[in-house]
Amino acid sequence: MTEFFFNQAKIAAISGVSTKTISRYIAENNIKGVTIEGAHNKKFNISSIRRITKGTYSSTKKKVIDKVQVFYNFKGGTGKTSLCYQVATHLSLLGFKVLTLDLDPQGHLSHMMQIDESWKGLTIYDVLIHNQPIKEAIVPVFEGVDLLPANISMTRIEVPLSTKIKREEKLRNVLNPLKKEYDFIIMDTNPTISTLNMNALVASDRINIVCETHPFSLEGLRVLMQEIETVCSDMDISPIMDIIPNKYEIKTATAQEVLGALRFEFKSYVLGSVVRKSEDINVASKKKLPVAAFCKAKSAAFEDINDLVPELIEKSCNPQISVDIK
Ligand SMILES: Nc1ncnc2c1ncn2[C@@H]1O[C@H](COP(=O)(O)OP(=O)(O)OP(=O)(O)O)[C@@H](O)[C@H]1O
Ligand SMILES: [Mg+2]
Repeated sequence: MTEFFFNQAKIAAISGVSTKTISRYIAENNIKGVTIEGAHNKKFNISSIRRITKGTYSSTKKKVIDKVQVFYNFKGGTGKTSLCYQVATHLSLLGFKVLTLDLDPQGHLSHMMQIDESWKGLTIYDVLIHNQPIKEAIVPVFEGVDLLPANISMTRIEVPLSTKIKREEKLRNVLNPLKKEYDFIIMDTNPTISTLNMNALVASDRINIVCETHPFSLEGLRVLMQEIETVCSDMDISPIMDIIPNKYEIKTATAQEVLGALRFEFKSYVLGSVVRKSEDINVASKKKLPVAAFCKAKSAAFEDINDLVPELIEKSCNPQISVDIK
């Protein structure tokens, strides 16, 4: 399992409180850090980080309403898997318990979660087609994050799934009993319009559309939004949709124009947070780590994920109701 350590300043940055508040919480709760060779200050492992953020991050006690979320776009390479991984792992660093589902036969999310490409265990195929219990398909990947892995054999799912009764509702029914065990259930999809992806849309309380800030993206986005609206009205569901601008090149006039056009045309959907194009997001995929684990607090990747996740949490929670998180 992945292991990394944060100092108090990094924990303060993700919790959104001062280092002094973190120090006080650590002292009051007698949380033990470790001394890493070469480092001046004590550092904290994932388990301690989660204990501290659970106690200090302002939103961990709110009731999550949009529990089931999908990262979706039928255009390839927009950053669905990268953001799905970063959001899921960052949520766990904030103390939430997250189930991730890899619904892409390419298995990129599973790969980032350290699951070998030749994964021989159960996948969503066995769960939806052969009625295997979903719990038997789920593996822990790191503290606060479980995964239902994917492999290439899932490409065979379309034909048997499309002949099932209520075929688009199978995943929602399978996920329902898991909602009480997790704070969030987050799905990564492949870039197609398939029955499996329809299942993901129907199961979702919130659809996160990952969109590049590229001129060609706008036309595709119009088609995509219409497509999703048609599915939702056919299925009589009304998930919330949002658009996450990704790979934003801050210095190019074209990207600025596209972001402006996105905000103008899809005003109510586009999140305030924007994820800039940054080599650290690529490096994170290679290192198989959350950006928080290796990026400096002032890096674009860390800043952007650290803005995006709290915005998603705020939008997904009911501010009026408080609960104890898992
Ligand atoms: N903000 C970013 N900055 C730089 N590179 C990024 C960013 N977001 C994603 N990438 C890179 O873009 C490529 C595609 O990203 P990713 O695999 O997450 O897209 P995807 O939408 O899941 O693709 P697919 O449709 O094939 O599943 C990867 O190399 C990833 O590292
Ligand atoms: Mg992907």
